Amino acid sequence: MNLRDDNVSEETKNLISSLPTDEDSQGKLCKYQGCWYYYNTLQAVINFQTNFQPQDTDIVLASFPKSGTTWLKALSIAILERAKHHSNDPLTHPLLSDNPHGIVPFFEIDMYLQTATPDLTKFSTSTPRLFSTHMPLHTMKEGLKDKDSPCKVVYLCRNIKDALISRWYFRCKYQNKEAAGSILESMFESFCSGVSFYGPFWDHAHSYWSGSLENPKQVLFMRFEALKSEPYVQVKRLAEFLGYPFTKEEEESGLINKIVELCSLRNLSGLEVNKTGKTWMNVDYDSYFRKGEVGDWKNYLTSEMENKIDMIIEEKLKGSGLRL
Ligand code: A3P
Repeated sequence: MNLRDDNVSEETKNLISSLPTDEDSQGKLCKYQGCWYYYNTLQAVINFQTNFQPQDTDIVLASFPKSGTTWLKALSIAILERAKHHSNDPLTHPLLSDNPHGIVPFFEIDMYLQTATPDLTKFSTSTPRLFSTHMPLHTMKEGLKDKDSPCKVVYLCRNIKDALISRWYFRCKYQNKEAAGSILESMFESFCSGVSFYGPFWDHAHSYWSGSLENPKQVLFMRFEALKSEPYVQVKRLAEFLGYPFTKEEEESGLINKIVELCSLRNLSGLEVNKTGKTWMNVDYDSYFRKGEVGDWKNYLTSEMENKIDMIIEEKLKGSGLRL
C-alpha cells in the first residue's frame, strides 16, 4: 500500500503545494486532476503520465479499488492465454502459478511507484501487454499520450457500498486490526465526502462511463454485478471487446464455462499461490479474495448510512444516465 510521502520529487512537492490537500488515517492526500492520491501514488501517476510509452495493442484494466480488479485481471488473462493453455495445464497456465496481480501490473502501484523509468519488460510479459490502473480515465489517458489512442480500456464498476465494505475489510486485514465499526464509520464519512484514496467514487466511475459512451470501441464499461449474475454473457462480451472473440467451436466445447470456473473465487482462492503468496508490497494474495458477493453491505451499513450515500450518488450523477 502506498501510504507514505517518500520518493516524491521536489517538482512534485511544488505541485502538491498548489493542490487541495487533506489527510486520513493512512497518510496525506492531495487532489490531482479531480482525484485524491497519497503523495507517493501521485508521484507514480506523474511518472506514468510522463514516461509511459504505449503500444497500440496495449490493454488497460481499470477499476476503483475493491471492485473486482483481481477477477477482471484473471478473466482477461484466461481469455488472452486460452490458445496457449487449452487444458489449463497446471504446469504452465499462468493463473495456476501466479496471482492475477503478479501477472497484470498496476501502472501507479507497481511499475512507476519506485522509479520514473521502469524496465517494462520485467512487468508485462504477455502479448498483447496487459496493464491495470485505479486512475480515472482522463488521468490515465494522458499516459497513453495520443487522444485517439487505439489501446483498449476495460472498466469494472461495482456498487459503491459493496466497494466500501470490501475496502474496510481489506484495510483492517492489511493493518492487522479487527474490522471495527468505528473504522467503518470513519471510512464511510470519507467515502461520502469524496476525500478518500482514488475518490470521489462517482467522478471515477463517471469518467469511464462517459468515455465508454463517447468511444465504445475504446472503453468497455462492465459491472461486477453483471459478471456475477451472467458470467457467460459477460465473458463473451469481454472477449469480443478485447478482439479475441470465442469461435463457435470454442463455445460448443464449453470453453467459456471453463474460463468462468477457472477464474471463480472458489477456484482461485484455493490455489496454493493465492493461499501463501504475497505482492512485492507484502500484501497477502489471500486478502484479495473474501466473499465476492453482491449486497454484502446490507450486513454492515445502517439504513441511515444507506440513505445518505444513495442521496449523494443521486445528486452527483443526476442527468448522467449512470446508476451506481
Ligand atoms: P469482497 O471483499 O466484497 O468479498 P479487488 O480485486 O478490486 O481488490 O476487489 C476485491 C473484491 O473482489 C473482494 O470483494 C473479493 O472477494 C472479490 N473477488 C476477488 N476475486 C473474485 C472472483 N474471482 N470472483 C468474484 N469476486 C472476486
